[in-house]
Formats: sequence, C-alpha cells, structure tokens
Amino acid sequence: MLSYLAKVIFLIGVYALYRYLSINLKPIYKLIRDIIKEKFLGHTLEGLTDRYGKWAVITGSTNGIGKLYAKELACNGFNVVLISKMESKLKILAADIEEEFKVQVRIIVADFSKGLETFKNIEQVLDTIPIGLFVNAFGVAVYDVGNMCSLTREELTVILNTNIEAVTELSRYFLQRMYCTNSKAAIVNISSCLEIYSTPFSALYDITKIYNRKLTLALQQESRRFKVHVQHVLPCLVPTKTIQICNAILKDSKLFTPDPEAFVHWAVSTIGRLDESTGQLWYADQFFRWLSQVL
Ligand SMILES: NC(=O)c1ccc[n+]([C@@H]2O[C@H](COP(=O)([O-])OP(=O)(O)OC[C@H]3O[C@@H](n4cnc5c(N)ncnc54)[C@H](OP(=O)(O)O)[C@@H]3O)[C@@H](O)[C@H]2O)c1
Repeated sequence: MLSYLAKVIFLIGVYALYRYLSINLKPIYKLIRDIIKEKFLGHTLEGLTDRYGKWAVITGSTNGIGKLYAKELACNGFNVVLISKMESKLKILAADIEEEFKVQVRIIVADFSKGLETFKNIEQVLDTIPIGLFVNAFGVAVYDVGNMCSLTREELTVILNTNIEAVTELSRYFLQRMYCTNSKAAIVNISSCLEIYSTPFSALYDITKIYNRKLTLALQQESRRFKVHVQHVLPCLVPTKTIQICNAILKDSKLFTPDPEAFVHWAVSTIGRLDESTGQLWYADQFFRWLSQVL
C-alpha cells in the first residue's frame, strides 16, 4: 500500500516538475530558437509590425527607457505616438525620429500626475489612430520618492496618480480598444524589480510597482482569449535618470548595469514572446534577481 502511494506521489511530482519547466522554460527556448533561426540560419521571422500593425504608443517617451523603446520601435518600422509631460522635449524627439527612421510621429502632451482629466485629451487623439502596441514606460522615480515621512500630501498624490491611477487608466483604455478589434495586439507595462524587495526609503515606489505587477499579470490572463498579449517588464538597474544615485556608484561597472540601448533592444525582441521579462537576462543583476526568485 505504502509503495503504491509513494509511486503516485512520485508521478504527481514528475508531472508538477514537467509543468513547471514547460511553463517557465518553453518561452525562453522559443526565443533562443527564433534568435538562432534569424541570426544564424538566415530565416525571416514575422516582424512586430506584421503582428501588431503600423502604430505604437509609448508613454514616458522623452527620457530613459521610454525614449529608447520609441526609437527601437520606430527602427522596427512602427509609426509612433509619443506621450510625455514636456512639449519642447517631445517636439525635438519627434523630429529626430522622423528624420532618422522615416516614420510618422504624433505627440501628445500629458501630465499624469494631474488625475483623470488628463486622459480625455489623450483619448480624443488616440481614438483616431489604429494602435496595435502600447508601451507604458513612464514612472516617478525612486530618488523622487525618498523617505515616506518627508513627503507632503501633494507629493503623495503625484506618486499615486502617476504610478497607480495612470497605469490603470491607460491599461483599461487600450485593452477596451484592443478587445474590440479582434486582431493581435500587445501591451507592455514597465514595472521594477523593486516589486519583489522591501527597500527602505522606497516604500511608496515599491508598493506602486507591486500594484503594477498584480494588475499586469491579472490582465495578462484575462487578455489571452482576445489575442492581446500583456507583457510585464521588471528592469533592475538600467542607467537612466531614474537611478542617478546608483549611476554614481555603478558608473564603471559594466558587469552590473546593462547598456540602456542594448537593454531595450533585447526587451523589444521579447514583446509577444515572454510574459515576464527582466529586459536583458545575462546582466548579472538581472540574473541574480531571477535566481533569487527561482530559489
Ligand atoms: N532605470 C531603471 O533602472 C529602472 C529600474 C526599474 C524600473 N524602472 C521603471 O522604468 C520606467 C522608466 O524609467 P526610466 O529610468 O526610463 O525613467 P526616466 O528616465 O526618469 O523617464 C521617465 C519618463 O516618464 C515621464 N514622466 C514622469 N512623470 C510623468 C508624468 N507625471 N506625466 C507624464 N510623463 C511623466 C518623464 O517625462 P520628463 O522627461 O518630462 O520628466 C520621462 O519621459 C519607470 O516606470 C521606472 O519606474 C526603471
């Protein structure tokens, strides 16, 4: 009787291991297989614009990760809608992208800290454009947040409006649109690896990113039946304005901080392929984050 029970438990264990490995390793296997096919065997694979159409929207596109996503997607042939706070920066970037990649560029000025009113203007413009890909890359940074007790009520509202309310409202708006079109579409929500740590002096930022994670992963499941892929990206340290403090310490450490262009290039290649990504796997910081999760 006991040996029969042991066999059953063993088989359940084998099945659980098989399920775990197939869920976690299959997308990575497919990604590596595609890279080998494309780079070494000369196959032409389906491009992002074949999958998602001609237009992509990027928030937080005047700086850092969002700006690089905008350029990388334009390089992939997308016409882009750039959304950010400052008109002057948006105009300069739009001219650069049009000049360099010969694609159409639209800009929308929006300050997400101002609450729900902001979205009426955005939605009016976007309603007329057939969007297949949305990258949500804005965010209030760690060094802006600091010690929670030192925050004013206004600063608290800005952080919550920006990192929680705006992420939610934009995800809702795009999903509603994408569900109706019945064609392939994708949303990329940029969170942070701080969603899995409890970091002193960054409590509020971390909690907004935990929210981002829960929201994105739940929407990911809900959206599968509508052919919409919702991707969760959680960078660790990418040397942009956000992590100026760390940049000073890590400035010469190529081992621990990825080159931002290479990071985004890799991250874009995972759109529609990986449900969750740290952006660029083989940088040590990303790897240790991943390892700590697996263990
Ligand atoms: N860099 C990293 O190591 C790292 C690590 C983990 C997670 N992340 C996440 O990745 C995302 C992008 O980070 P990043 O490093 O690229 O940041 P960044 O260089 O500071 O850029 C942030 C972008 O968001 C825009 N933005 C900020 N507040 C806004 C508001 N209220 N309304 C509209 N736009 C606003 C900024 O516009 P302006 O140019 O006008 O300021 C800028 O374009 C963020 O969600 C961040 O939390 C970054």
